[in-house]
Amino acid sequence: MNKILIKNIGELLTGREGSLEVLHDKELLLSGGKIVSVGKPGELSETGCEIIDADNSLVTPGLVDPHTHLIFFGTREDEFEMRIKGADYMEIAAAGGGIRKSVRMLRDASEDDLVEHSLPFLDNMLKHGTTTVEVKSGYGLSLKDELKSLRALKRLNEMQKVDLVPTFLGAHEFPDEYRGAHSTDREKYIEIIINEMIPAVVEERLAEFCDVFTEEGVFTVAESEKILTAASDAGLGLKLHAEEFEPIGGAELAARVNATSADHLVAISDEGIRSMKEADVTPVLLPGTTFFLGSDRYAPARKMIEAGLKPAIATDFNPGSSMTESLQIILTIACLKLKLTPLEAFEGVTLNAAKALNRSDSIGSLEAGMKADIVIWNADNHKQIPYHYGVNNVRTVIKGGEVV
Ligand code: NIG
Ligand code: FE
Repeated sequence: MNKILIKNIGELLTGREGSLEVLHDKELLLSGGKIVSVGKPGELSETGCEIIDADNSLVTPGLVDPHTHLIFFGTREDEFEMRIKGADYMEIAAAGGGIRKSVRMLRDASEDDLVEHSLPFLDNMLKHGTTTVEVKSGYGLSLKDELKSLRALKRLNEMQKVDLVPTFLGAHEFPDEYRGAHSTDREKYIEIIINEMIPAVVEERLAEFCDVFTEEGVFTVAESEKILTAASDAGLGLKLHAEEFEPIGGAELAARVNATSADHLVAISDEGIRSMKEADVTPVLLPGTTFFLGSDRYAPARKMIEAGLKPAIATDFNPGSSMTESLQIILTIACLKLKLTPLEAFEGVTLNAAKALNRSDSIGSLEAGMKADIVIWNADNHKQIPYHYGVNNVRTVIKGGEVV
């Protein structure tokens, strides 16, 4: 692998002591897929280097998207139109649409179909500056179909450039076959998750995290706790979809089970914020989802920051509630609706997103020793990215030390 020297950087965003900082007058030396050093112009040797002239533009870490549902099959634009006409997301779900519609479509697809369906989305992500993505299963909801999803993900991770962090989300919804009149149906599905799915996922090393959709009408706090405890005992890291619509105690649960992150948090209570801070759970906010669901109620990001939390930001890319691969539009929404400054928004998709994936030691910042995942932008400062919205501002993506 060749050495690269990036010169004439206008603005460099990098982490220092847990915060993202804007630096000037810096050059970056890359070798062996990593950042070797960050120095002043003229300080780093050019011998044997390919020179990249950044032409006084903005250089940031490759973006990290810490919450997506990329493994799906088929789209749901009909529900988009239904919502425009006044239907509500949870009503559509209760009527058999929503997640369960995606489950029916994914079950009819093969592992090969899933791989083929996902590749163009990953390509779009890379072109928009995303170099690491968390991906959840959760449209299979049977042992066979959850494994099919995670195996497709494993193949995708090996065959294209974006790094994928796999999460098992068997507890995304109760599948149609366990929604009958029997009072023991729910218990039975939860037993399958705990006794069959988690052991199989761990045995084949198909996931790093286990996630649960803890929400009124989906998994209760008690059910979620049972699943998450089993997952943790089996060696998986933990994540939750928590307090998206109702504050039922998902944030407190995330703290209790020592989750790495709790995500959505639109309806989080003050007590929930306090417990997350105490247990060092990273909030992952998904303002694109609130926007796409046509709601005006956004997560209380400023309150979280005041309480000392450091929110990560993600696309939530999925066919129902957020059909976008681009973190750039999410930065714009995070600034306007969560009231984050452009720098706080960038911190959400770099440093804080890496923390939400337990990868702070290798990605999300541009220090010596980190992976050489870098974006050079068509902009001379970071404020221009959320400001110049709806277009792709990426000039060059460098993944693992190679220009892609
Ligand atoms: O994070 N809230 C639950 N799950 C997804 C939506 C999945 C879907 O609608 O297909 C989310 O928004
Ligand atoms: Fe989600």
